[in-house]
This record gives sequence, structure tokens and C-alpha cells, in this order.
Amino acid sequence: MSGKTYYITTPIYYPSDKLHIGHSYTTVAADTMARYKRLQGYDVKFLTGTDEHGQKIQRVAEDKGLEPKAYTSQIVGWIKELWKKMDISYDTFIRTTDKQHIETVQKIFKQLYDQGDIYKSTYEGWYCTPCETFFTERQLQDGLCPDCHRDVEKVKEESYFFKLSKYQDRLIQHIEDHPEFIQPQSRQNEMLNNFLRPGLEDLCVSRTSFKWGVPVSFDEGHVVYVWIDALSNYISALGYLTDQDADFKKYWPANVHLVGKEIVRFHTIIWPAILMALDLPLPKQVFGHGWLVIDGGKMSKSKGNVVDPKVLVERYGSDAVRYFLMREVAFGQDGNFTNDALIQRINSDLANDLGNLVSRTISMIEKYFSGQLPVNRRGTEFDQDLQQIATKTVYKVEDAMEQLFFSDALVSIWQLISRTNKYIDETQPWLLAKDHRNDDMLANVMYHLAETLRIISILIEPFMPRTPKLIREQLCISEPKIVSWESTKLWGRLPQNLSVKRGINMFPRIDLEKEREILEEIQEKNKQKQLASQEKQQEKKQVQKDEKTTVAEDTPYIGIEDFSKVELRIGEVIQCEKVEGADKLLKSQIKIGDEVRQIVSGIAKHYSPEEMIGKKVIVVTNLKPVKLRGVLSEGMILAASDQEGNLVLASTDQDIASGAQVK
Ligand code: ME8
Ligand code: MG
Repeated sequence: MSGKTYYITTPIYYPSDKLHIGHSYTTVAADTMARYKRLQGYDVKFLTGTDEHGQKIQRVAEDKGLEPKAYTSQIVGWIKELWKKMDISYDTFIRTTDKQHIETVQKIFKQLYDQGDIYKSTYEGWYCTPCETFFTERQLQDGLCPDCHRDVEKVKEESYFFKLSKYQDRLIQHIEDHPEFIQPQSRQNEMLNNFLRPGLEDLCVSRTSFKWGVPVSFDEGHVVYVWIDALSNYISALGYLTDQDADFKKYWPANVHLVGKEIVRFHTIIWPAILMALDLPLPKQVFGHGWLVIDGGKMSKSKGNVVDPKVLVERYGSDAVRYFLMREVAFGQDGNFTNDALIQRINSDLANDLGNLVSRTISMIEKYFSGQLPVNRRGTEFDQDLQQIATKTVYKVEDAMEQLFFSDALVSIWQLISRTNKYIDETQPWLLAKDHRNDDMLANVMYHLAETLRIISILIEPFMPRTPKLIREQLCISEPKIVSWESTKLWGRLPQNLSVKRGINMFPRIDLEKEREILEEIQEKNKQKQLASQEKQQEKKQVQKDEKTTVAEDTPYIGIEDFSKVELRIGEVIQCEKVEGADKLLKSQIKIGDEVRQIVSGIAKHYSPEEMIGKKVIVVTNLKPVKLRGVLSEGMILAASDQEGNLVLASTDQDIASGAQVK
């Protein structure tokens, strides 16, 4: 089985915020697929990561007073913790701020430019900052962003363009020749009819109006705009265009890119066109899944309706949350998320169906055989049917998994679980146990239950990585060859003289009413916290704005070189009198070193001429001479005044000779 490779990716997430259960949905799906393929013996590469550039992240970081990368690193730490809690077994976590990624993007951009697939022109249009998307005039709705309905900004700037239009016909051809390329089918029709057939426009791929991006290596001031940066992660993570490109050679083209429906267009039009331009093979499939919605609407932080996956995992365990995500909604369609649905699934499918089957089986073997099955067996009329269903289920699961129909796969496994529970009702072990002459038949029934559990523990492993271990601990089995994927296809791999050991209750029943209240309380608290922090951000922004205006309009800064132009000296008042006809002014003769100057000051209301004589004051000596009321003034005496109208002369702390410089 060696040599088979499987490369699967999630989108790279924007770390502009913490992730919610909707993001976990894509990632759990990819992880389930990765685990499934590993079990089947594939050499798997599972890639996830973060998309860290762009104006939006730059702005969020600025608001928090952080460098963009310092900010995204915090969120990346949080994300990695989440994936650990959810048992996400990624092989590589790429950050678009990684050095290798940046260099590869620069090489790709340069190569496309050199070969004429990227050219320089002027971009004119409308830009929505929250969505980071450009729109043409006709794409706007009532002058607003067609996606989020917020204001858009008019932009006109020098930009590089990618010749998307050139690849239109080849793309249409590829999609028509490869019906499996875009899944589900409905998204394929959407791409063809809404985008490809009406005609593609060339794509703006650089910006000059912000800095937080991969710099275009040959044109300072330009950064690579969003899609060439983000999409290239799928090959830069493999070492494409570096001298360590073994992974690229081994894993490319990807088997599947899992993406949400709103980014299918980028992955099935822009990305394949870039790959064609690079003369690389296209991914075998792009699967566009639906959204988890709340009350029919999209989850969003601003609505305060996001569900924190960490809270759910802490309360119910990651297996239960993963099971719910993969079982509840048909992959491809939108699905409503409710706390009730989650709890009900845990109670009915996990606690009741699976949990009970395990605990009944183990406790019966303990009760009837002290935990040790004898080897003598006698069959029942119900065995054949159970054996068949048990060994056939794997084929149904494989069928469903190949199409990424996770929910269907789980339905098949749960049909087997129900069938096994029914087998207990049919064989009625409690009746067999009444007569020791039936011990060989009873042992046979127990073996059938345990063997089916072995098979079930393997089939659920891609979805629920922890539960199989708990089941196998109770069945006391761990040997690789009896827990391998292939071993589900053959009946009777479990040892005949099986021993069992009771374990913990894997899925305790949850009190729906109580739990609903608790969850609502937690979610309400989070919502309040979110609203409060939004308000705080708002206030902070306002304060910053206010501060900026005060500084700018009232207190223009001067440099030290400006200040040093002012010459200040100590002067001694040797003579002083009132200026005739001006009740505010005093005329002083001031000795400054060897020189005596005449200075007129508006201090008559505060100082009498007599008081002034003998005072040492601070004088501005290089002020341009002026005449006040016809009297010459050659400088200015410094004084301090307040709003109450008080005024005092500025002086030195201790006596110092007249003429001394003040600095
Ligand atoms: O789009 N239900 O990043 P992103 C299901 N960086 N899926 C959801 C969801 C929900 N409620 N909310 C979000 C980006 N998602 C780009 C991708 S790839 C080269 C660049 C999914 O963080 C969404 O559909 O906004 C998308 O597939 C993924 O989360 C990342 O979204
Ligand atoms: Mg998005």
C-alpha cells in the first residue's frame, strides 16, 4: 500500500479574530478525511494555517496598538490550542508571514510578470475594506458593497494585473472535462453560468495603499494583493520553488481543497488560472461546503451570535462535538446550529445507541462469564445477518467518504449500531443465562456483540479519535492487525478467549433543560463581553481621534533647533516707571551683563515700579524691537499667568549674575 499519497487542505483562516464553530466545521471535516486516508494506508499531507496579510488585519492590529505580526501571533497561538483540543491532526501549519511563503510568493509573482501574465496598469474602482474586495461600478448594489452592504471607497491607483481573461476558455474546458473538479455539482453550474461564460476580467493583484503584505520584489511600494498571496500557500507549504521541494514533488496536485461556498470562486477560477500560468497540474477537486448558520443567519462576531468551540469541547469532549458537526448537516448544504440539536444528538446517538451498546456488552460478559469468554460456541439464527451487515458497512462508509458525504458515512455506521442493539433484543441473552446448558450459545452472542464493537470502533475512528481507544480498552485489544481498516472486512478477528474490563461511561446523558440554560448563559455572557469590548474599542478610537486633533491644531511641536533660536538672559531691573497714558504698561531699564536695555511690559496691574527695581528677571533678548505706545521696547520679560488673571514674573531658583544665559 505504500506509494499512495493524499493531500488535503483547509482554507487558511484570517486571524483577525478568534475562530468560531463554523471554522471548526471545515477543519474537522478535513481532519476526518485525513484520518480516514491514513487508516487506509495513504501517506497523507494535511495542511491548514493562517492568512495574515491585508489592510483589515493591519487595522485591527493598529487598534490594539500592536505590530501586525505580534497581533496575529497571539491569535495563531489561540488557534493552535483550539486545534489541539479538537484533535486536529494537521501535518503542516502554514502562516503567510512565514519567510519561505513570502519568498515563494515573490518568485511566483516575478515569474508571472516576466512571462507576461502579470502587467502594470491603473486600477479604478470601488473597494470594500471589511471584505477586502474590489468591485466594479456595476457590481455595486445601490452604491454599496454587494456582499456586506457597507460603504465602499473609490480607489484609483497604479496596480499590477493578472491576465485572468486569457485562461477563460481553458478553464471552461477543464471543468467540462472533469465533472469531479468542482463539487457539489450545484457549485459547478454556478461557476460556469455566473462567472465563466459571461466572461472574465483581468484581476488586480497588487496594492500601493497599504503596506502589510508581501512586497513585490521588483517594484517598491507595491504589495501582493490577497489572492496570489493566500492561494499560493497550498504549494509554498510544500516547498515549491525552493531547493527543498520533495514534498511538492510527492504531494502536488492536491487531492482536495475543502473550502466554504463563498470562496469557491477563488479556488475554481483564480487558483486554477494561476496554476495554468505556472504550468502546474490543477488540484483534483475543490469541494465547496455550506455554512453553519444560527437562526438562519450567518454567524458573526458583530451580531454576537458566534459559538465558541472551546466551550463546547470543554463541556462535552471533542469526539461529541466532532460527531455532531459531521453528522448533523449534509456536507455541501447549509445547516442550522442549535444547542438543543447538539445535546439531543449526544443523548440519542452517543449515550443511548453507542454508549449503551458498549456498556451492556461489557457488563453482560462480566456478569455471565466473569469477564472471560469461553471458547465453546453454538450459533443462533440471527448471526448471519449481523455478520453480513457488520462486514458490509465498511463498503458503504468508503463509498460515502470518497464523495465527502460524512453524514451518510455516519448514518451507515449507526445503522450497524442499531442492528447490533436489535440483535440483543432478538437473542435475549438474559433468558439464555437462566440455563447453563445454553452457555455456549450465550458465549456466541457475547462474541458477536464484542466483534461488532471491534468493527464499529474502527469505522468511527476518523470521526472520533478518542472513543475507539476507550472501547478497545474495555475489550482488551490493541494489536494493530485487528484494529486496522482492512480488518473490518473480515468477520472473527477478535480472539476467541476474549477478556473484558469495564471502563468509564463514555457519554453520560445530559439534562437538556439544565444544559440549555447553562449554554445560553455562557453565550449571553460572551455576547455582552463582545459588545462591551466593541464599545471600548469605539471609545478608544474616539479618544485617539480627539488626541490627534488637539495635538495637530493647538500644539504644533517645535524641534530643539527651533527652541534654541530663542535667546534668554538674566537681567536686573535698575530703573522702572509707568508709561504715560497706558495703565497696563511699565517701562524698565534692564542691565543685562554690560549692556542696558529698555523693555516695555504689560505688568502694571501686578507690579508697581518701586517693586520692580532690584529684581532679577528673565528676558528674551533677541526679540525684534517694537514700539508700544510710541515707546521703544527691545525684548520681553517672561512672566507666568493663569486663567484667574494672576501674573508673576519668572525668576531663577537662586541668585545668579545678570547676563547669564537661560537654556
Ligand atoms: O476566507 N460555517 O478566511 P476566513 C461554515 N483567508 N464555514 C464557515 C463559517 C460558517 N459559519 N464561517 C466561516 C478566508 N467559514 C480566506 C481564505 S484560502 C486560500 C483563503 C469558513 O477566515 C469559510 O467558508 O474568512 C472559509 O472556508 C473558512 O471558514 C475561512 O474563512
Ligand atoms: Mg470569509
